[in-house]
Amino acid sequence: MSDRLEIAFAALTQGLEPAVAALSSDDLALAPTLRQMDAKSGGAVLKAAEAAAFKGKAKTSIELLGQTTTGASRLVVIGAGHPRDAKETDWLMLGGYALGQLSARKISSASLIAELAGTDGPVAADLAADLALGAILRSYKFDKYMTKNRPEKVEGENGDAQADGIRKLIIHTADPEGAREAFVTRQAMADGILMARDLVNEPANTLGPVEFAERCRELTSAGVQVEILDLAQLQALGMGALLGVNQGSIREPRVVVMQWNGARSKRAKPLAFLGKGVTFDTGGYSIKPAAGMEDMKGDMAGAACVVGLMRALAGRKAAVNAVGVIGIVENMVSGNAQRPGDIVTSMSGQTIEVLNTDAEGRLVLADVMTYTQDRFKPKLVIDLATLTGAIIVALGKEHAGLFATDDKLADDLIAAGKTTGERVWRMPLDRAYDKMLDSKNADMKNIGGRNAGSITAAHFIGRFVKGIPWAHLDVAGVAMDSAKTDINQGWASGWGIRLLDRMVADVHERGEK
Ligand code: BES
Ligand code: MN
Ligand code: ZN
Repeated sequence: MSDRLEIAFAALTQGLEPAVAALSSDDLALAPTLRQMDAKSGGAVLKAAEAAAFKGKAKTSIELLGQTTTGASRLVVIGAGHPRDAKETDWLMLGGYALGQLSARKISSASLIAELAGTDGPVAADLAADLALGAILRSYKFDKYMTKNRPEKVEGENGDAQADGIRKLIIHTADPEGAREAFVTRQAMADGILMARDLVNEPANTLGPVEFAERCRELTSAGVQVEILDLAQLQALGMGALLGVNQGSIREPRVVVMQWNGARSKRAKPLAFLGKGVTFDTGGYSIKPAAGMEDMKGDMAGAACVVGLMRALAGRKAAVNAVGVIGIVENMVSGNAQRPGDIVTSMSGQTIEVLNTDAEGRLVLADVMTYTQDRFKPKLVIDLATLTGAIIVALGKEHAGLFATDDKLADDLIAAGKTTGERVWRMPLDRAYDKMLDSKNADMKNIGGRNAGSITAAHFIGRFVKGIPWAHLDVAGVAMDSAKTDINQGWASGWGIRLLDRMVADVHERGEK
């Protein structure tokens, strides 16, 4: 990760950076600051807009250079569409889009004036804070291994090459103090999301289970209690399913337990979040084809989301008790690796016939599920996993697959998905699918056959849930994506942190404050 974008909030009276981005509605003449700038420059702004046929439509922009009378020697006017109807996520995306526009023009610091047509100045605190989060998420780059040819080099003051274009963004708002306050929660969110992206983008040679677990210790400074279980402890607990997956690796597995107790009653039952943390998935002896196998460095994205979520919850001091538990292993081939047909005994005591060593995530989650329920008696449990290729076939990159035993939990997640734009689509669970996992030789097998692959995978995990509300999110399609968006230019998306944080805030912190 490169240096974080610096964000400041200011009133318009504080003066402007030489470069100004004005985020303005489709009704340009009604945007107050823009109208003032236009007046100061003898009509240059609206004339330029007319000459460029710029109407303030979303995702269009024009640039005026040398108009110092406007208070800006570079003025980038960015269309915001109809911001009066904009929702929270639209402001997030606009913040990202605006930052992209500035980066493309190699501007290193800028003032951002966002305003709604027909008002008397820049936007209120919350919207300014949403813009800021969007800009930070957009500015993220995984470039720590680039020793030369960084894409957006600009010349520093002394002629040195500086990494990255834009370094500082001053967001103008009617209420800078309020924006700073509103930004605290967004900052926590950014910390969690960028940490998750960093973990997912990191290659498997430098991030194995031991290294991943070590990175979780960072959360201690945010007030999270972090425990790391090592090989001997996992053996003593009888986590035969998880250990079988890691058996072919020369690296040791880890389970990390992260606790945040922010509820009024420290003894209130926690919400539990579980993550699949396969730092690399070769498939094992049921080996994957070579093409695209490199993407399997991201097979720990579910676990990374849990880590990022715990960090975000602690960072904004969420009034909730939450526990995050992640199983971290490496699925490799070697003389000691698990074979198809092996039968392992899970921590629950149930035996599993491993017919496909590439269906490993569910084996890891099975033991993490048992451990979490036995130890914490959670109110509900949500697991996240890059579990199946089949979910990508079904839902593409637009929705994560949601499986739930509890309609209320499912509805809460769907609602949070709609507000945050991290959308989920509910898939069925049914006894008939569950039966597909019955085995001739053990209590169950780890694959259900060719059909309904994502559903049988979910049912496998469900066999380890002991009657509490449970939801499973198959994030194989949404956690990594090479298509760029307004708020993510890289591969790892950090998907799920905004979703779950929102569900926690809207549903589980009510009455706690
Ligand atoms: N990690 C993969 C699923 C995956 C595929 C994640 C593509 C992200 C992108 C998982 O462990 C896996 O290999 N699943 C198998 C299951 C099958 C063997 C039943 C799959 O989807 O093919
Ligand atoms: Mn696999
Ligand atoms: Zn996997």
